[in-house]
Amino acid sequence: MIKDMQAEILRLKEQKNACILAHSYMSEDITEIADFTGDSYALAVKAKQDPRSLVIMCGVRFMAETVKILSPSKKVILANPAAGCPMAEQMDAELITEVKKRYPGYAVVAYINTTAQLKTVADYCVTSSSAVKICRAIPEKNILFIPDINLGSYVQRLVPEKNFKLLSGGCPTHARITPQEAQAAKKAHPDALLLVHPECVAGVCREADYIGSTSGIMEFAAKSPKREFIIGTENSIVQHLSFAFPQKRFYPLSKDLVCHNMKLVTLPDVLAALKGEGGEDVVLDEPTRSAAAVCIERMIALGG
Ligand code: 13P
Ligand code: SF4
Repeated sequence: MIKDMQAEILRLKEQKNACILAHSYMSEDITEIADFTGDSYALAVKAKQDPRSLVIMCGVRFMAETVKILSPSKKVILANPAAGCPMAEQMDAELITEVKKRYPGYAVVAYINTTAQLKTVADYCVTSSSAVKICRAIPEKNILFIPDINLGSYVQRLVPEKNFKLLSGGCPTHARITPQEAQAAKKAHPDALLLVHPECVAGVCREADYIGSTSGIMEFAAKSPKREFIIGTENSIVQHLSFAFPQKRFYPLSKDLVCHNMKLVTLPDVLAALKGEGGEDVVLDEPTRSAAAVCIERMIALGG
């Protein structure tokens, strides 16, 4: 059944010359039919480079918006219109415009997990894998980092030469993990390395052997000579790594590390999107798109 649906997706993908992009949090049945799977930074770059004019985004809304922002002539379909990122909705352009007035001269650095509208008031965009490099590289010394306080404080620790103002947004999935859970997982698996996403709170990051993006965590586990790992990011990464490296053991840091928005996207959604019977054709008005593009283009120029 799954194989039949995958075969039909691959046939339609060829026929329509479509590109299927999947975030690393997608399930195995989706990553198997995707042209490309990766973290937010890699998806943004891939979206810009791929020549195909139809893109099916298997991920959350801001990821589809990023493709549209970078490639306005492409038709970009968000495979499941209900898949949003709650963090991306936590702050809006009006709020940040007001906050900016209190911090004149600060560069607004926005995590890519933000709406297109919020990106219009940002100076630079970052992802979890590019944030440290970009905050170091930009000429401004004062940074208003939005919206993730945990990613922001991780970057602040690694870039002490800059002044950071952080606001209190964050990822509800990662931020709920406590340092006590991290300590308990390490006690339960004393030979395992703990690999966490920087969206986790500082106390969890302090317990970690490695902190990085979804792709960073996967690369670290792939290259490490160690055989056991506790995975402190969405649990789909535990599954991908377990399939890819059956000789190694991967333990979830918490059974609650599940992003219910990412999990909304299913293989039937991808098929329906390709058939033109489902998904959402992402539309952005041109002033919003072009203003939002500035901070993402700067990230790609500085982060490559
Ligand atoms: P990555 O950029 O690491 O893929 O993170 C995206 C995300 O939403 C993590 O929660
Ligand atoms: Fe958003 Fe968190 Fe889900 Fe990532 S894991 S998409 S930041 S809610």
